[in-house]
Amino acid sequence: MERKRIVSGIRSTGDLHIGHYLGVLKNWVELQKEYQCFYFIADWHALTSEYRDPSIIRKSAKDMVMVWLSVGIDPAQSVIFRQSDVKAHAELFLLLSMITPLSWLERNPTYKEMKEELKEKDLSTFGFLGYPVLQAADIVLYHADKVPIGEDQLPHLELTREIARRFNFIYGEGILKEPKEILTEAARVLGIDGRKMSKSYGNALFIYETGETLKQKVMNMLTDVKRMRKRDPGEPMDCNLYPLHEYFTPEEMRAEIRTGCRSAGLGCVECKQILLTNLIREFEPIWKKIDYYNEHAGIVDEILEEGARRAIKESDQTMEKVRAAMKLAD
Ligand code: TRP
Repeated sequence: MERKRIVSGIRSTGDLHIGHYLGVLKNWVELQKEYQCFYFIADWHALTSEYRDPSIIRKSAKDMVMVWLSVGIDPAQSVIFRQSDVKAHAELFLLLSMITPLSWLERNPTYKEMKEELKEKDLSTFGFLGYPVLQAADIVLYHADKVPIGEDQLPHLELTREIARRFNFIYGEGILKEPKEILTEAARVLGIDGRKMSKSYGNALFIYETGETLKQKVMNMLTDVKRMRKRDPGEPMDCNLYPLHEYFTPEEMRAEIRTGCRSAGLGCVECKQILLTNLIREFEPIWKKIDYYNEHAGIVDEILEEGARRAIKESDQTMEKVRAAMKLAD
């Protein structure tokens, strides 16, 4: 029996951080066991907000793929590609735009929020308004059964379903598949300054850091602000660093850390050192692989070429049906 399908993408607008690792990538790796996965770099989506200075998009696309491969996304199992290499995404975006009512796009909460958040960028463009239509094209091209996404993307998936339904209603039942979500929980980790971890806040721990910068960042992390001196007891639940232990430190050691913090027996410096050791244990093998791919960048190009080939083959089949349904072909 054919495995059910997953489609998911990440915009290539910069480096991947530990939040992505915990919240997105580890999940993607797991999903490969059960599903046929299509994972892609959404570089056209990146362009909707970065069109003024697009230089980052291409570079970070390749860096991201190196990270994907190094954490265990397997090109032998999954189709790994760059959106802009598969022109059918653009064609289907155009065709779906014909049937998508403007009001659906204008009421989209993610659209309103992003415009508000990224005030420094002029996002009053046709491309940005159409963002979810392109996303719908990404998904229905491969007849995805499921799409792993964070909560912020739910409105986009709902729009995808609405667009697919409208397409099928107008042109014929069963042509496009309505996907379901796999809601992935965002990692509960904060940046080094205690705010949400984000590249744009400059507070992120990246997946690919040198040991030295990682050390500096961890050692400078804000902890429980009420704990001014080592002899003051602290509260792990009020500490910005402790949530990272939840992901990287085994439970027996965490129990000791909690007791030590609350009794002022364990200082923040020692606590940070424990975390650093555990982070390095987790990421060192990944760093080694990333270094390998950096030195053998040709391998990454080949993987992307092969991925594009497989994606084109799949998406062409869908496009034939779509063109025929819309009377663009016989
Ligand atoms: N909009 C998604 C995000 O910002 C990225 C994305 C583009 C995507 N196309 C997709 C995610 C298709 C899932 C499926 O995270």
